[in-house]
Amino acid sequence: MQRQTLYNLHKVQGPAVFLLFLTVPFFSVNQTEHIDSLQSFEIRDSDIFLVTYLKSGTIWTQQIIISICELAGGLKEYENNFQQMPWLEYREDNEDYSLRPSPRLFTSHLTPALMPPELKDKKGKIIYVMRNPKDNIVSYYHFSNAWADMETPKNISYNCAVSGGSWFDHIREWHTKKEQYNILFLTYEEMILDLKAAVTKICTFLGKNLSEGDIEQVVEKSTFKNMKKDPKANYEFVPQDKISGNFMRKGNVGDWKNIFTAAQSQRVDHLLQEKLGDLSLKFIWE
Ligand code: A3P
Repeated sequence: MQRQTLYNLHKVQGPAVFLLFLTVPFFSVNQTEHIDSLQSFEIRDSDIFLVTYLKSGTIWTQQIIISICELAGGLKEYENNFQQMPWLEYREDNEDYSLRPSPRLFTSHLTPALMPPELKDKKGKIIYVMRNPKDNIVSYYHFSNAWADMETPKNISYNCAVSGGSWFDHIREWHTKKEQYNILFLTYEEMILDLKAAVTKICTFLGKNLSEGDIEQVVEKSTFKNMKKDPKANYEFVPQDKISGNFMRKGNVGDWKNIFTAAQSQRVDHLLQEKLGDLSLKFIWE
């Protein structure tokens, strides 16, 4: 699908179609055969999956989950968080994930239909992290400027096809199918608000009994400041010809206010109501 041109958010013209409104295939679409093969991917009870729409706090939550599992013991060490918790939809060097020792940790931006069906038998555990779509747009915009494989926008995206499909579909599909899965929903905003509480929630969900001191350690390792210095977690290991910026950009809530006009903000509010209003989701964005 042809990506459409980008638009300066400060100058709204024509019918507003927001970045996250359009549905296009995942950027891993060139790996369709591998994604198809996930339909027979065998899940273990001890498997942990982190699922997000991209730019929702994925590498942050990876750091939390990995730190928890390290302290709980029995986790094989890998070179960095990307190797430790690979994206299910990619297969680095054709690695056979069935040869990994338990517990296996995976990351994914996929929707339920593309995930291994055995997850629906409540095998394995899924942690789903969602972020305010307004901040998601801003983060995505900056990221696509910095990532060599993505079209470089001159302005913040307005009418643009996005990798990862529609944010609204992603949220809807995971929330409406939640009964089928062993799944914990978290938001980026609640992690910002009280990181210790979020870490504790994740420990409880994963059945990892960490001491108070260990929980504090996970929190320390996962703060923006400390993660940025952590070569295993900050994604600075990504080759320089791929990325010309930081994975860890600002790491705060409400950056959208520096860019969105009131009309654009209202447009997202309206879309949220129109697309997800029936789900009675509780959004704590601020
Ligand atoms: P910003 O671009 O708004 O700064 P993902 O990992 O899904 O790609 O999400 C990236 C976003 O998460 C970026 O947001 C990044 O700065 C933020 N992030 C990464 N680590 C973080 C941390 N420890 N605390 C808060 N935000 C973090």
